[in-house]
Amino acid sequence: MMRIRVATLFPEMCETVLSESIIGRARKKGIIDISCVQIRDYTEDKHRRVDDIPYGGGMGMVMQAEPIYNCYKSVCEQLNCKPHTIYMTPKGIPLTQSKAVELSRKKDIFIICGHYEGVDQRVINKIVDEEISIGDYVLTGGELPALVLIDSVARMCDGVLSSPECFEDESHFNGLLEYPQYTRPEIWENEAVPSVLLSGHHKNIADWRHQKSLEITKERRPDLYEKYTKKLLTDKK
Ligand code: ADE
Repeated sequence: MMRIRVATLFPEMCETVLSESIIGRARKKGIIDISCVQIRDYTEDKHRRVDDIPYGGGMGMVMQAEPIYNCYKSVCEQLNCKPHTIYMTPKGIPLTQSKAVELSRKKDIFIICGHYEGVDQRVINKIVDEEISIGDYVLTGGELPALVLIDSVARMCDGVLSSPECFEDESHFNGLLEYPQYTRPEIWENEAVPSVLLSGHHKNIADWRHQKSLEITKERRPDLYEKYTKKLLTDKK
């Protein structure tokens, strides 16, 4: 079973999100083992401080190395191994579907959520395997990014979704955006469901969906569309 540990100053915030919906259900069923660890429990400071002013001056505070390192060592002991360690930061490599697939195959993951102006570089050098960003914008902390990462990874672990087809068809899995979906009723506010979807003709439906995927990707994400068509060409060669 995959084990994920999240080091954070806001474990309740993470716990709330991770207890709901599909991830919450998978945890209750014992399919994935996720827990949040309070970094503040690992400081030796009598005021429970975990940050200090930056050497060299400048704005804000920097998270100290020692509490994060102590927290990491405690998690290593508890897991009885050295987990794959990720630091959430806007400086990291961008999270993509293929990165999520890669991480879903790991056995144990430790995620560090930063706050303030960052984390002392020395603890990053010592324990972090990779730094990941969820996009080119800056958030107040690493908690939301860690939750995004966990959601994208955990849903691909065996048994979390009802079947792998649940994600093999969706946006980004094959490099294209997903086709539009419809459900009952057949006519809503004067708009009918595309008739091919009612035809029961599986090949025509698959062709129509693929065509729609191509159209929407070309329109919204020319970058992905170009990648997809280039890959088709090289695959044919
Ligand atoms: N921490 C703050 N902003 C972030 C981002 N965009 N991605 C990952 N971690 C972050």
